Amino acid sequence: MVLVMKEWDVLFSNLDSIDFSYRKNLNRLKRGPLLSKTTKDDLILDLFCGRCDTSYGLRDYGYKIISGDISLKLLIMNKDVKNKIQLNSLLLPFKNNQFKGIIIQGGLHHLDDFDQIVICLREAKRVLKSNGYLFISEPGNTLCLKIWLFLIKKTKLWKISSYSKNWHDLYKAEEKTHSLYLSNTSKLIHYLKNNWTIEFHKVGLVTEFFTLKKDD
Ligand SMILES: C[S@@+](CC[C@H](N)C(=O)[O-])C[C@H]1O[C@@H](n2cnc3c(N)ncnc32)[C@H](O)[C@@H]1O
Repeated sequence: MVLVMKEWDVLFSNLDSIDFSYRKNLNRLKRGPLLSKTTKDDLILDLFCGRCDTSYGLRDYGYKIISGDISLKLLIMNKDVKNKIQLNSLLLPFKNNQFKGIIIQGGLHHLDDFDQIVICLREAKRVLKSNGYLFISEPGNTLCLKIWLFLIKKTKLWKISSYSKNWHDLYKAEEKTHSLYLSNTSKLIHYLKNNWTIEFHKVGLVTEFFTLKKDD
């Protein structure tokens, strides 16, 4: 497999500390019912896991977790997380019906087009058990996000601190897939309604959350 060693990895890992990020990811996860729908004995896949911040946040919950990402560079950063695998979310190296839960936080908006998003969701469904749950949190197409993106991309505001500069550089680096994702959010909801049971759907200030169930 070709390793992804993009500048993007560096920008992403410089943005938030693991400590800050795992709390943020855990709080997002708690917005949907995945944790209450699964038990400690269940196998959970943290897909597009990056530095494994979500997996790390779940370490005290007792789940059996597998963390998967395409970037080896990000995967190896947190030595405290075990059970990691380098993978492509478009072709998951797992058997059918293996996981009770899958978590995708900030992954779909990195895919190249809507077809890839559909392929990834089909793969997620394939490896999920019947009555398993897929939690997704991705950028929401909201006014708040539009204002934030305008400020960070089109004004000089990003120059005020190294933190805002990191955000600016990160958005520039992922601009293409990020805006493609946002332009397809209605299409995505239509697709999800036709192919999954949506148990939970909420649009926050800048993030959209789904908990999807795979029916029998
Ligand atoms: C914004 S990061 C999300 C990381 C993590 N979920 C979090 O919330 O901290 C997106 C991740 O998607 C990964 N990625 C992009 N395309 C991928 C693919 N086709 N298969 C697997 N991972 C991919 C990138 O390497 C990156 O780590």
